[in-house]
Amino acid sequence: MSLLVAVTWETQPWVERFRRHLPDRDIVVLGDDFDRNAIRYVATWGPKPGSLSNLPNLEAIFSLGAGVDHLMSYPGLPAAPIVRVAQDDLTHRMSEYMVLHCLMYLREQRRFDEDQKAKRWNPDRAPPIAGEVRVGIMGFGVLGQDAARKLKVMGFDVAGWSRTPKSVEGFDAYAGEDGLTSFLNRTDILIALMPLTPDTQGILNRSLFRKLARDGKLGGPILINAGRGKLQVEADILSCLDDGTLQAATLDVFETEPLPESSPLWTHPRVTITPHNSATSEPEATARYIAQQIRRHEAGEAFENVVDRARGY
Ligand code: NAP
Ligand code: GLV
Repeated sequence: MSLLVAVTWETQPWVERFRRHLPDRDIVVLGDDFDRNAIRYVATWGPKPGSLSNLPNLEAIFSLGAGVDHLMSYPGLPAAPIVRVAQDDLTHRMSEYMVLHCLMYLREQRRFDEDQKAKRWNPDRAPPIAGEVRVGIMGFGVLGQDAARKLKVMGFDVAGWSRTPKSVEGFDAYAGEDGLTSFLNRTDILIALMPLTPDTQGILNRSLFRKLARDGKLGGPILINAGRGKLQVEADILSCLDDGTLQAATLDVFETEPLPESSPLWTHPRVTITPHNSATSEPEATARYIAQQIRRHEAGEAFENVVDRARGY
């Protein structure tokens, strides 16, 4: 009755937390001498090729993050259910990030940072208030809806876009190809919180940015992407920033990670970069969540947040 931890990160913090939350189990890591027949669960992020093979009694694969593209691209992924992270610790971190960056643009904080460096006292005009700014969230799932609720508390005019139609109380919700243009036409700040799938790869491109609202109060459309780097076409982001199609961008995720030193995004004056840490999986909260899922399963209840392999998320 063992759990195998297969991560590309430092292993020890994860092993310690799993031992605390599953004290009656063997917690093993790749490289240990363990019986593969005894492994019932795997907790993994970016498993190396071969690390998940030959586990005949596997009952679940736990993704240590919300996204599962790292598993969908794994050759020979075992057939066991994939359970992803959807719990408050991660969700709240993402909403903090979205509120921070939307407010940063609303209140022109980057301009004031420059003014401070130049010792320039420039109160200028009153900025718009949040109620005058339309935020559009692409990916209106667990993270998108929580961010929407918190941005709404700040006063932003928020709508969501998803693959399938949904009704979310208090928000305009758009769906699918049919709803995309209307959604973009009413959006000043575009937040991307979608999974990476064959349908979403490269979706954040010039033709999409051109449909964003041009009559907003922020001087041009703004992109915030914390979904996945391969949702975006970085060459298009750069050229759209340069010709005014986009006003600014906050990027937490990149086509290649870590972002190469040679990328012009690093030094672009209207790009804000964070190192894929908008919503980090914190080991304590994540191990507690996975232990709860294991206990549910062993009590005969269904796992929560099971990935639909056909959809890819
Ligand atoms: P989720 O609950 O599964 O929500 C995904 C949303 O995206 C759903 O609304 C879904 O539509 C929509 N979607 C999927 N494919 C689409 C398509 N082709 N067209 C339109 N909408 C589409 O996932 P979540 O927990 O919110 O997480 C979302 C993503 O955030 C993860 O997959 C991961 O890539 C990213 N993430 C990043 C970080 C970070 O640190 N940067 C941390 C955590 C997660 P339906 O509602 O119709 O299914
Ligand atoms: C992080 O990127 C996650 O998917 O949780």
